[in-house]
Amino acid sequence: MPPGASPSAASLSAASVSGASHASRDVPYPFADTDADFERIEFFSVVTSQILGGRFLPSVDHLENRKVEILDCCCGSGAWTTDIACVMPLAHVVGFDIRATRVEHHVPNAEFLVADVNEPLPFDDDTFDIVHSRTVCLAVTNWDDYLRELKRVLKPTGYIHLIEPVIQPISQQDLPLMYDLLIASRFGGTGLNIYAGTGVVDAARVAGLHVCQAQSFPFQLGTLGADSDADRIGSMMLSCMQDSMRALVDELGERAAISPEARRPYYEEVDRYLSEPNREWGIVEYVVACKDSSLQADPSVAVARNGA
Ligand SMILES: C[S@@+](CC[C@H](N)C(=O)[O-])C[C@H]1O[C@@H](n2cnc3c(N)ncnc32)[C@H](O)[C@@H]1O
Repeated sequence: MPPGASPSAASLSAASVSGASHASRDVPYPFADTDADFERIEFFSVVTSQILGGRFLPSVDHLENRKVEILDCCCGSGAWTTDIACVMPLAHVVGFDIRATRVEHHVPNAEFLVADVNEPLPFDDDTFDIVHSRTVCLAVTNWDDYLRELKRVLKPTGYIHLIEPVIQPISQQDLPLMYDLLIASRFGGTGLNIYAGTGVVDAARVAGLHVCQAQSFPFQLGTLGADSDADRIGSMMLSCMQDSMRALVDELGERAAISPEARRPYYEEVDRYLSEPNREWGIVEYVVACKDSSLQADPSVAVARNGA
């Protein structure tokens, strides 16, 4: 355990558990702690699950009747944490996030902590059988440090699941105002990498992990006029992106001192770009990694495609 890391989750006092404390210092995450952001996270989580074929976590089947320890990093609303705790009642599931979760229905085997992902994680070495990390690209400032921490807290026989969306870059050509806004708000200086999903396999290897599975799940933005799952997902993704990009304009606009009245052209640019007839637009990268190179991905790890 590195210096400064605190004891394992199991030994944490009630004062550290859900909602009882809150990290006080500023974090680079570009969205305010509002109901709207939690709703966006919940919706995006549903859409991501759809893109992955509606599965929770493909490799848990063989673990269902075992007392496993599961970690959910940057757990957001806590929906996945509680869902997996319900599916695996013998497991002990810990979700942490910089903000207190807003879980309405508490499940006895799910626990929530407030912790900063960019600090040493508050868990002992070799604690977890499964570490789940989904859509943390707007939370993690140093992927090398982050993945080394995940590796540290993972049991020698455990698996890390990294799930990151990769969207089209905000290019100067397509989105000139947004491009300038990223610069004016000093977003680059935060260390966050919106496109971290692109390099997640390499980052895992650099951190000394063995990558036993990597799959890309394409998704479209908007509909192509077909009565298909892809169109339904595309339609949900469009709604997610419209909402998120507008929220990003507001947050970065605040940082760049652009008044609410002056933001209209930015909204219009984003809306125009997103409403262009669309196509395969992004992917979700799904990577399973472990410490031990002799561990193979179980065949059950194969992620079901939509409708499969
Ligand atoms: C896009 S959400 C993903 C939530 C969840 N993993 C999911 O897939 O539904 C990113 C989450 O990271 C959290 N976050 C941002 N900065 C963080 C930090 N420094 N430490 C821990 N969590 C952080 C946010 O509060 C938010 O809940």
